[in-house]
Amino acid sequence: MLTGKRILLGVTGGIAAYKTAFLVREFVRAGAEVQVVMTRAATQFITPLTMTTLSKREVIIDMFPPSPDQPPHQPIRHINLALWGDVMLIAPATANTIAKIAHGEADNFLTTLVLALRCPLIIAPAMDVDMYLNETTRKNIALLRETGCTVLEADSGELASGLSGSGRMPEAVRLFDEVVKSLNNSRRDLAGKNVLVTAGPTHEPIDPVRFIGNRSSGKMGFAIAAAAAWRGANVTLISGPVSLSTPRNVRRLDVSTAREMNAAVMAEFPATDLLIMTAAVADFAPARSSQQKIKREQKPGGKFVLELLENPDILEAAGAKKTGQMIIGFALETENGVENARKKLASKNLDIVVLNNPLVEGAGFSTDTNVVTVITASGKVEEFPLMSKIDVANALLSRALKGLR
Ligand code: PMT
Repeated sequence: MLTGKRILLGVTGGIAAYKTAFLVREFVRAGAEVQVVMTRAATQFITPLTMTTLSKREVIIDMFPPSPDQPPHQPIRHINLALWGDVMLIAPATANTIAKIAHGEADNFLTTLVLALRCPLIIAPAMDVDMYLNETTRKNIALLRETGCTVLEADSGELASGLSGSGRMPEAVRLFDEVVKSLNNSRRDLAGKNVLVTAGPTHEPIDPVRFIGNRSSGKMGFAIAAAAAWRGANVTLISGPVSLSTPRNVRRLDVSTAREMNAAVMAEFPATDLLIMTAAVADFAPARSSQQKIKREQKPGGKFVLELLENPDILEAAGAKKTGQMIIGFALETENGVENARKKLASKNLDIVVLNNPLVEGAGFSTDTNVVTVITASGKVEEFPLMSKIDVANALLSRALKGLR
């Protein structure tokens, strides 16, 4: 199953490190080459000799040889290995290593390797419940997810401390499956394709301090951009105002208003193979934006009437200019979903429309998950269950791939 695959396996200092030995054996049995990298703390929990024996490769611990009688130092081993791996899994990942990676620290071989990594990174946290639920750890995990790392949720149950709760390393079989899934998702099947993704809301200014906006966080679009980049595409992400970090290997253009997004999409569209519009573009903008802050006193009688004018429909304009590009639009509907989505598919000349309903639990704005129905121009309707946005992204890209020239 994993013949020819090269797996980098990071092990940090936690009691769950002993379970990773089992995983090394399973990866090797499945035909993979496994390079184990341990932190010094990890060696307190499991011996490097165990890992070397199971992986059949010398375990790497230090950046520099600890004593002169060690084998000669290879100066850029971290860079060579970063290019060598098809996927990297860190299991168990302590709160300390997660924090370091989230903030770009490189103070040991493992964190230095991660910083230079080009392949997908999967992190399996394992720690005590209070450390796992600590606000700082949660922020660090969120930061890593934003940049395209897969951080698995820890399992719940009895912990080494005797406490009970979240913090157990996911079981080895699940880690194995995650590695296989990641290898499938990063198989570079979009290499050479130009993918244009829009994400987030638009802000339509009323005056220098107020705007018309919406609840889009950008997560859906950023997940698609990250997934397409892992699959080898040249990705341009046109983003409205969001507070997300740019995924790896993605070119990002920031815009604010619908008109700015329209101009950016139209400039990029001719060289695009696949356009995916997840952005929640404002349909209307104030007819005039005041140069100065509008004061209460300027609106006597307690009434403020705002005149709105229609914004350009970006997707419709792109659909009209199609010269072989594939276009995927989203439809955000709270009623008559399939019917309305089909109308958008036809009127905007789309190849695929992705329907989602913000009233459904786990779907729509700001969540890390979505529940979507995919409708194709040929009339096929596929209903997906609740999935992470990154899984939705990969499913969509796989559907798109079938239609790309
Ligand atoms: O960003 P998140 O918090 O992760 O939330 C994700 C999402 C809910 C924003 C996303 O999944 C989604 O549904 N995006 C489309 C939102 C939307 O504007 O839907 P719509 O049905 O109003 O528009 C239909 C399509 O036309 C969309 O692809 C939209 O990008 C496009 N459009 C809309 C208006 C406009 N003036 N120009 C457009 O191109």
